[in-house]
Formats: sequence, C-alpha cells, structure tokens
Amino acid sequence: MTDLRPLRIALASDHAGVALKDHVAGWLRARGMQVVDHGTHGGASVHYPTYAIAVARAVAAGEVDLGVLVCGTGQGMAMTANRVPGVRAGVVCETFSARAIREHNDANVLCLGGRVVGPGLAEACLQAFLEATFQGGRHAERVAMMTDLERRGDGPARG
Ligand code: RB5
Repeated sequence: MTDLRPLRIALASDHAGVALKDHVAGWLRARGMQVVDHGTHGGASVHYPTYAIAVARAVAAGEVDLGVLVCGTGQGMAMTANRVPGVRAGVVCETFSARAIREHNDANVLCLGGRVVGPGLAEACLQAFLEATFQGGRHAERVAMMTDLERRGDGPARG
C-alpha cells in the first residue's frame, strides 16, 4: 500500500452517510490529511444538496485539493456536486473505478454510498482514489470536452 501525499480534503454527508463520513474522517486524519468536515453531525434528516454544494464549492474555489461526499447511495451527492463548475464527482463502490476516475476523468470529488459500502471497502476505495494521479494525454482531451460543455452550456451537437 502506497503512502499517501498529505492533502486538504473537504468532507460531508447527509444523515444516511454520517456514520461512514465520520469513519472516513478518522481514516483520513490518521493518514496525515487535513480534513474540513462540513457536516452533517447527527442522525437528523437533512437535505443532501446542501452538503454537496458546500464541498463542491470548496473544491471549485481551490480551498481544498479534493472532496469526499457520502449519502445513502452517493448518487444524489454526485448529481448535485457535478452541477458546480469545475467539479468532477464520481460514485464508486469498488477500487477499480475509484482509481480510474482519477486516472482517466481527473475526478476531484469521490462519492460513496453509506447504505452501499461498508467501512473496509470505503477505505480501499479512498486509498485507490488518493494514490492515483491523472494520466493526461488522450484523457485530458476528453476532460477538456466536459469543461467546454460546462463553459458554453448545452446547444446544438458539435460532434
Ligand atoms: C436519504 O434517504 C437518501 O435519499 C440520500 O441519502 C441519498 O441516497 C440520495 O441520493
């Protein structure tokens, strides 16, 4: 297992992800990461977009290097975070994709489902995500197409 570079990581969850989020916070801090925990902090029902927006904005503003979001499935968090320009969020529940979204898609937010993955699998996904680096090359051209769409907005297909 590769030692991880110390990074600033913004973290948040809704009520369905709070137990896994707290576990992830401890795991990251134990590996020297600077964690900015945007909540939630208890089991009371909350709206996941509030938390996804907070982390996504922190990532897009460069206040942190990466973000981690946890809800029941990870999906609502990713859908919301991906609406913030500059954010590329992916949901993972296995390590191949956790590595690939960094290497190929230059993902800057990892989303996990607290009702989908247990703490051990979440740790393995985090390790894979954090030790991977963007490979650039042909992948950079594809990521640039996403950024272009984000900048221009949708319109007639341009191939
Ligand atoms: C909350 O019940 C659940 O809908 C939420 O955590 C998440 O899974 C949404 O994507």
